[in-house]
Amino acid sequence: MKQWTNEERYRTYQESDKKELQALHETIAASRWREDYHVQPVTGLMNDPNGFSYFNGKWQLFYQWFPFGPVHGMKHWYRVSSEDLVNWKNEGLALKPELLSENYGCYSGSALVQDDDLYLAYTGNSKDYELKRHPYQLLAKMDKEGRITKLPKPIIYPQTGYTEHQRDPKLFEYKGRYYILLGAQNEEKKGVFLIFESNDVEYGWQLKGELKVRGYESFGYMVECPDIEKVGDKWLLLFSPQGLEAEGDRFQQKFNNVYFIGDLDLENLEFIPDGPFEELDCGFDFYAAQCANQNVFENAAVMCGWFSCADYTCPPTEEQGWAHLMSLPRILTIEDGKLMQRPAPDMKKLEGEVLFKAENGTITADKLHGLMPRTAIIHLENPSLQSTELSLYSKNGRRGFEISYDRNAKVLTVDRSALNHQINEEFGAVRRIALENGLTSLDVYVDRSSVEIFVNNGEKVVSARVFPEADERILRMGGKDINLSIYSPLKSVEDNFII
Ligand code: FRU
Repeated sequence: MKQWTNEERYRTYQESDKKELQALHETIAASRWREDYHVQPVTGLMNDPNGFSYFNGKWQLFYQWFPFGPVHGMKHWYRVSSEDLVNWKNEGLALKPELLSENYGCYSGSALVQDDDLYLAYTGNSKDYELKRHPYQLLAKMDKEGRITKLPKPIIYPQTGYTEHQRDPKLFEYKGRYYILLGAQNEEKKGVFLIFESNDVEYGWQLKGELKVRGYESFGYMVECPDIEKVGDKWLLLFSPQGLEAEGDRFQQKFNNVYFIGDLDLENLEFIPDGPFEELDCGFDFYAAQCANQNVFENAAVMCGWFSCADYTCPPTEEQGWAHLMSLPRILTIEDGKLMQRPAPDMKKLEGEVLFKAENGTITADKLHGLMPRTAIIHLENPSLQSTELSLYSKNGRRGFEISYDRNAKVLTVDRSALNHQINEEFGAVRRIALENGLTSLDVYVDRSSVEIFVNNGEKVVSARVFPEADERILRMGGKDINLSIYSPLKSVEDNFII
């Protein structure tokens, strides 16, 4: 694979690069792993969701973007939009590094809707001539025509008492004032949260101090992408700590995206959790999730995550010039003290032709004849909590992508170890998820290079990138008293070239 020089990595997009990117996009668009209903990079590499919000009658979602190839380098922001969280449109380049305070990239950040403007708070990754990093928190605003203006000066300068790792501002309002929650590393190399306060979004930001989570001193060696959101009468604190240890079957990714449910006491700079932190996704590829700044769904939040993880590689698509995806948006609610995550309600609209249907062992539709479609939405109901299994993409005589539930152990196993293409297998190719009350349902969203499994109507989610080759095409299903329906999803992302 191509070795990227620093010069090639730290390049800012110019109008004159359009032809080069268009050619790259043409090759990429021919990939067998381009998705039908997931947001994917127009070219190059996508990472964190940024600036997620509901503004001007639409969902606005930006992503961290390196335009020129499948590597981390000079980060730009690219924007997509949607009216229903299902159909997404490419809108084009949103932020590119231009200021000295962002000379090594426009890093992650969030959005806040204020009347006719969408404020975007983000980290200017700046390096000096000795390549020492200086993090600045910057602000831009987008109007209803999509025009973006940057404030020339940082709203927050590098803070003393912390290392160069200070980033990913979450801008929010609380009791009539503005706040920024920032991920940081203290001088003992521990991950902490900082809180800044102001009466005006554009000026006067002051450090209030560290937001402490009661019962915890710090989290790993760095906290990335912190997020805070009110859901009903509770608060959700989401973050991506680096350096957590795996615990048995949990926290198996290189870095994990976790959450607390609890109460926020900003006056005393304290978050009071109701219980220990949990992982947002029990699968293989999920990180840096962000909730939308919105008021559309009542008592619910809307979240997107990066369908990958920091330091992960994706060789099958890297060879084609692109890397990574966005997760499906998830609607978050808190029910009986538990976080529930479900696909957007309009995902139902994507369910096209019925390919297979079986109720209580009676098959009423079977257009598959044992062949795995490239995309599918699978609903499985398991009313009598039986053991069951689904094997996607197996090859003659070999296992494929295996989803199986063992009723005696009350464990759901998701195993991608038998597939041709393995990615990041040093972080495990098998996940075991304990289901205290058994398995009642699975909703499985299969796109051309990804599988997302919503377990028990949103109690757990398991995300996995998969790269099936043409000969991995057998579908097997097993189990008694199971209701199963498989739909062919419609396409809801256009793979068009817009910069
Ligand atoms: C998380 C992250 C953020 C940073 C961004 C840079 O994946 O490392 O902390 O702002 O990616 O692209």
